[in-house]
Amino acid sequence: MMDKNHVKIYSTGRYIPPNRVSNHDLTSWMDTSDEWIVKRTGIRSRYLSRGDNTSDLCIKAAHNVLEGSHVNADEIGLIIVATMSPDGQSPSVASKVQSAIQAGQAMAFDMNAACSGFVYALSTAEKILRHAPYSYALVLGGEVMSKEIDWTDRKTAVLFGDGAAGVLIGKTDESDQFISEDLHANGDKGEALTSGNRKVDNPLIQSDKSVSYLTMDGREIFNFVTRSIPDSIQKVIEDGETEIEDIDYFLLHQANARIIEIVAKKLKRPIEAFPMNIQNYGNTSAASLPILLDELAKDRTVLNGKKQKIILSAFGGGLTWGTLLLEIN
Ligand code: ACO
Repeated sequence: MMDKNHVKIYSTGRYIPPNRVSNHDLTSWMDTSDEWIVKRTGIRSRYLSRGDNTSDLCIKAAHNVLEGSHVNADEIGLIIVATMSPDGQSPSVASKVQSAIQAGQAMAFDMNAACSGFVYALSTAEKILRHAPYSYALVLGGEVMSKEIDWTDRKTAVLFGDGAAGVLIGKTDESDQFISEDLHANGDKGEALTSGNRKVDNPLIQSDKSVSYLTMDGREIFNFVTRSIPDSIQKVIEDGETEIEDIDYFLLHQANARIIEIVAKKLKRPIEAFPMNIQNYGNTSAASLPILLDELAKDRTVLNGKKQKIILSAFGGGLTWGTLLLEIN
């Protein structure tokens, strides 16, 4: 008999658009250098879409997630797509995924918490699932950040990349994998990262119809992250009644290698426990953590049958941040 209150990760998957753009390639479009980008961020390349929109990437990632499971799409009751770069306001990316994979029984919606989106969505899906009459939920993070960027602004253009990935979670009679969490927002600092703003434009007031590109106060976010993320990680460890030495891997949002190094140092844990792929993909916002998780699952570093404690921690626009402690196998 399945314990209806226990939830686990069943499978992971990803889809990265095929067009790799190196730092060197960027220097033909803007005044930047491989040296500056590597030194300040750790990024060496990113993948940019040649026209596939966020739903196209998410649909391919969803197929990959399902291929790795024994679950049929019509057993899924919930689809959440975390994204800050949806195709449009309606239909949602999640609805397009629901249609494409023929998840006929699923409710579907998008969630926007910028780069924290996947952690927010996973936490939300896990809670809905515990009380739902169905057994499985699909949680994706997908972004085409390249369409949100002002390609004349070198301060942001070099940082972001496109991609999608996700997980299938479901009920289980094994032990619960979701141990503790810590999620926050600080809207007072919301202007530190803005994107896609649209002014009111109607018969009563005429204004600029254009949608604005992404702006970021990198310093502000850097400082906020290096202060708040170590505390958030400590909090889930304490609430999860475990010790920091017992955490196998700390999966941090891949925004900047320097941020990850500082967090590792503050927590006094070896950098090897903080897997990174930012060098390949840049910052893929809500897709960043599930891409990393899928890479680690595919090379059997995690989700390999062995019990492991992992941290998922993300931060970004909103400002938002959040950390989950999972005990996976
Ligand atoms: N190439 C060359 N030079 C550059 C570039 C570039 N691409 N970009 C900026 N510079 C120059 C600047 O003009 C500046 O020159 P100046 O001193 O002559 O004015 C100098 O480099 C330093 O610029 P800073 O912006 O101060 O560089 P900093 O060391 O702060 O690094 C960075 C910037 C990488 C953005 C860093 O602040 C950062 O990573 N912040 C965190 C971002 C983050 O985590 N975001 C997550 C949220 S994203 C989301 O939610 C979608």
